Amino acid sequence: MAILGEHKGAVEHPRRVAVIGAGYVGIPTALLLSHFGHQVVLAERDDYRRTTMQDGRSPIIEEDLEELLRSVLETQRLRIIGDAAEAVVNAEFVFLCVNTPMGIDGHADLSFIDAACAQIKDHLMPGAVVINKSTVPVGTTIRVAAAIGRSDVAVVSNPEFLREGTAVRDSFGPDRTVVGGDDQEVAATVGGLFALTGAPLVVTDAATAELIKYAANTFLTTKLSFINAMSQLCDALGANAVDLVRGIGHDPRIGFSFLNPGPGWGGPCLPKDSHALVAIAETVGEQIPLISAAIETNHRQQRHIVQRVRELAGGSLEGARIAVLGLTFKANTGDRRDSPALVITKLLREAGAEIAAYDPTVPVDATDDDVQGLNLCASVLDAARDARVLLILTEWNEFRELDFDVLGGVMEQRTVFDGRNILDLDIARSADFVAWGIGRS
Ligand code: UGA
Repeated sequence: MAILGEHKGAVEHPRRVAVIGAGYVGIPTALLLSHFGHQVVLAERDDYRRTTMQDGRSPIIEEDLEELLRSVLETQRLRIIGDAAEAVVNAEFVFLCVNTPMGIDGHADLSFIDAACAQIKDHLMPGAVVINKSTVPVGTTIRVAAAIGRSDVAVVSNPEFLREGTAVRDSFGPDRTVVGGDDQEVAATVGGLFALTGAPLVVTDAATAELIKYAANTFLTTKLSFINAMSQLCDALGANAVDLVRGIGHDPRIGFSFLNPGPGWGGPCLPKDSHALVAIAETVGEQIPLISAAIETNHRQQRHIVQRVRELAGGSLEGARIAVLGLTFKANTGDRRDSPALVITKLLREAGAEIAAYDPTVPVDATDDDVQGLNLCASVLDAARDARVLLILTEWNEFRELDFDVLGGVMEQRTVFDGRNILDLDIARSADFVAWGIGRS
């Protein structure tokens, strides 16, 4: 884990920190700060998550996380407990890292934030700083300060930019640290907790820090929807989207990052935050048609892929068996929240297709609601058996080098649609497959 570098326990003035919520943001935050040398208490009320971590195992699929957890537990600088109130009693800094799911009308649901404030407010030390790391609408720092109702406690916003799948790497090597609050000195002190990352510190007011989080995520969705729209145009014009990306990405003003067309953007953050930003704008009488168009383009991309698969299946999906490879919203995570793969399989089923799905993180006996009605398989080969079309929807490494001779031997017909542009289509074609990708046929 080279990324951890030489910073282990290196901080000069260790601080006492509490982190509320052991999720995708709370766990890396707690581990990073205790790795740097701070004393951290992590509060998680879910028994499974808590006991798993106490045993030195990670409750989420995340590269390097377990190794980091074990090394931090050995230092005795991390305590994992159930009660948020107990976690904050001696803490100088309290990070709120609870879930803010999408509520009604696209607004973020702040009930977990409210509940955390109610739990901790009477137990905070005088002079403590509460730091909001959950993704929350503009104005929430003020709301949290009001909910805590203590003039001797400061509240700041510190948005998180890590990605699932690379959470540890992103936490140790962020592009920037953003902290916003009324008191710029307090904000700078909070920024100092992350100084060992070496990232530039951007200190702002609270509203700007909160908006930065939404601006960053919706910029990314806009960029992705742009390239997805271009890939649709490539299909219509007979152009090649992979070459198009090469042709524009070398321009440093555009860049290659986040420019791979695919089955649409998903996951627990980008869809939720795009809807939330539209809703936030509406509350102040503003509209951002650009973001609404990015959301609509995302839906179009998924319908477009279904149409392409229909063509490959021979014009109708009625009764066609489709082998779907990948169900998570991207590779290297077990997360299927708002996964484009699940949206597409739903549309395929509505059109009469039968789905045989394989994902390395989904066991064949999974009973979760979101995989109901799918025929879950234990391997690519099992999924491909009698399938009319092989459809890649998540870019897992094991799908990059498929044995098309073997797969062709068990499929009803030799057709593949690469929804992530990870295949060399010529290899599939040399095994007599009709092979299409996103924006290339
Ligand atoms: C996203 C942001 O990238 C993080 O900076 C942010 O901190 C996080 O949301 C959050 O708000 O918590 P994440 O949801 O982990 O991170 O996923 P991304 O890596 O951003 O991917 C989002 C979606 O875009 C996935 O469905 C992915 O497959 C898709 N994508 C990404 C593409 O289709 N093409 C690309 O080139 C990149």
